[in-house]
Amino acid sequence: MLGNFTYCNPTKLYFGENSLENLSGELKNYGKNILFVYGGGSVKKSGLYDEIIKILKENGKNVTELPGVMPNPTAEKLREGAKLAKETEADLILAVGGGSVCDYSKAVSVSAHCGDDPWEKFYVRYEEPTDKIIPVGVVLTMVGTGSEMNGGAVITNHELKIKAGHVFDERVFPKFAILNPRLTFTLPKEQMVAGFFDILNHITEQYFSGTDDNTSDYIMEGLMKSLIHSSYKALKNPEDYEARSNIMWTATWALNTFVAKGKTEDWMVHMIGHAVGAFTNATHGMALSAVAIPYYRFVMPFGLSKFKRFAINVWGVDSEGKSDKEIASEGLLAMETWMTEMGLPLSLREIGATEDMIEGIANATFLLDGGYKKLTKEEVIEILKNAF
Ligand code: NZQ
Ligand code: ZN
Repeated sequence: MLGNFTYCNPTKLYFGENSLENLSGELKNYGKNILFVYGGGSVKKSGLYDEIIKILKENGKNVTELPGVMPNPTAEKLREGAKLAKETEADLILAVGGGSVCDYSKAVSVSAHCGDDPWEKFYVRYEEPTDKIIPVGVVLTMVGTGSEMNGGAVITNHELKIKAGHVFDERVFPKFAILNPRLTFTLPKEQMVAGFFDILNHITEQYFSGTDDNTSDYIMEGLMKSLIHSSYKALKNPEDYEARSNIMWTATWALNTFVAKGKTEDWMVHMIGHAVGAFTNATHGMALSAVAIPYYRFVMPFGLSKFKRFAINVWGVDSEGKSDKEIASEGLLAMETWMTEMGLPLSLREIGATEDMIEGIANATFLLDGGYKKLTKEEVIEILKNAF
C-alpha cells in the first residue's frame, strides 16, 4: 500500500536541443548579479562557456565566475563559494556542468547567508536552512545524478574522509534546469557509463524495498527497461540523439523524488559507495558499480520475491521450472553481464581501493534501514571483502 505523502517539484525544465534558448527568458526573473559556477574546463572546450557568457552579457548581467568545481566537491571549496556568493551579493547562481557543479551550487545557495560554517551546519548537524537562499539555475552537461531536479547536495570532506549528502527541501531545488542531450555527446565514455550505472542504481535503491503492490515499482521497471535498451545504443553510437535524450530524461525521473513517493527506500549501495568515494575520490557511478553486485547478492535472500520480480520484469529472465532463488540470481547475473558489457568496474581494486581501506570505509558508511536488511558494520565489511 502506498504510504501517505506530499508531492511537490518546483523545478521548471526545458528539454531538447534548442533548450538553451530559454536561458534569456529565465534570466529576466532575477537581479543583476550572477554567480556563474562551472567545473574543470569541459565547458570551455565544448564552447558552452562562450555561449553562456554571451547570453549573460546580452541580458546586462554582472558576472562573477566561480570555476574549478571538482568532481565530488569539497567542504573547502564550499566555504570559498559561500564567501564569494555573499561578497558579490549574488542574485542567481547559474550552475553549468554535471552533478558536482549542481550539488555544489545548491550547497553554496544555502551557505552564503547562513552565518555559520556550512560543513558543520548542513553536513554534521544536518540543520535545515533558516536564512536567505540564493536561487539556483542549471544548464546540465552530464547525465546521472538527477541533481537538476532535486534537493540533493553531496559534499566531501577529505580531512575527515567523509562524503555526506544533504537532501534539502523544495526551497533549494533548482528554479529551472536546461537539458540539452546534445551537450552530453562530449562526455568521455567512462563518464557516460558511470552515469548509466548511477541512474540504474538510483532506481534500484528505491525499488528494492517493501513487499506491497504500488504504482512506483511499475514505473521504475519501465524506466530501467528504457535505460538498458538505450544504453546499448548509446554505447555503440554516443551521438545517437534518441538514445541520449531518453537516457537524460530517465535520469531526471530516476531521482526527482517522484518514484520514491509512498515507499521506503534503501540507499545502502550509495552509502557504501560514498564511503568508498571519500577514500578513493573515485567517480561516483564507478564507486557504486564496484560494490553493487556484492551488496545485492548479500541482501537478496531478505527480499527474494522482489529480486525475482526484478529478474523477470526488468531483465526478461525465463522463470519456467526454476526456483525463486534461481530466478532472482539469474536477474543479478543479467545485471552483472550488462555492467560488464558497458565496461563498468565490478571490483574495488579496479577503482584504486586497497584492502587496508576496508575498516575505514566501513566506519565511514552510514547505516540506513529502509531496504530489506539493516546492515551491521561487520556485514558491510563482509560485502567490501566480497567486492575485492
Ligand atoms: O569538471 P569538468 O571539466 O566539467 O568535467 C566533468 C567532470 O570531470 C566531466 N564532464 C561533465 N560534463 C561533461 C564533461 N566532460 C565532457 N563533456 C561534458 N558534457 O565529467 C566529470 C564528472 O562530472 P561530475 O559532475 O562530477 O559527475 P556527476 O554528474 O556524476 O556528479 C557526481 C556528484 O554528484 C553527487 C555525487 O556524489 C558526486 O559528488 N550526487 C548527487 C546526487 C543528487 N544531487 O541527488 C545523487 C547522486 O547519487 C550523487 O551522490
Ligand atoms: Zn548516485
